[in-house]
Amino acid sequence: ANVHPALRRIVLTGFMGSGKTTLGRLIAARLGWNFLDLDHYIESRTGLSVPDIFALHGEPHFRRLESTALVSALGKSNTVIALGGGTPEILTNRLLLEQTPATATIFLDAPFSVLFDRCVLQGISRPVLADPTLAELRFAQRQPVYRALAHHTIDTSAIEANEAVEAMVIAL
Ligand code: S3P
Repeated sequence: ANVHPALRRIVLTGFMGSGKTTLGRLIAARLGWNFLDLDHYIESRTGLSVPDIFALHGEPHFRRLESTALVSALGKSNTVIALGGGTPEILTNRLLLEQTPATATIFLDAPFSVLFDRCVLQGISRPVLADPTLAELRFAQRQPVYRALAHHTIDTSAIEANEAVEAMVIAL
């Protein structure tokens, strides 16, 4: 697959369950690039799971670790980076993403109900989903943020993973 030769990083953004990790791995394999999942990066650096970091140290502490991880991630080349759902909530993260050259940001979009069901099916513990009403509020607040950041948007609600990867390659 070919993408623009000057492109060095692809960043996937979107709410929990949007497919950032799954599709990120697939597109990285397709391009022969590296894949970096921001949550996993934080977990391997701290030796703690994301829910444990939230429980032991609180969300503000997690956000600081996340911002530091983002700086490292954006320093890499030929890398697909899956953000956490909340990464773009932080203004400095948004500015950094916007100002990093040769970086394409793709928003994986889907309705809240689809995302919520996917997360429940995956069974992965996510502190932000503990209260569904609050989670839907955060979803609504984040939608314009994801949109503003993205160079490309892909609606993942009605397509298979391989189709989403093709749509990304075409967009890039
Ligand atoms: C969060 C999303 C999670 C993880 C943390 C907080 C959020 O990432 O960073 O639980 O605020 O939406 P995923 O979107 O990869 O699940």
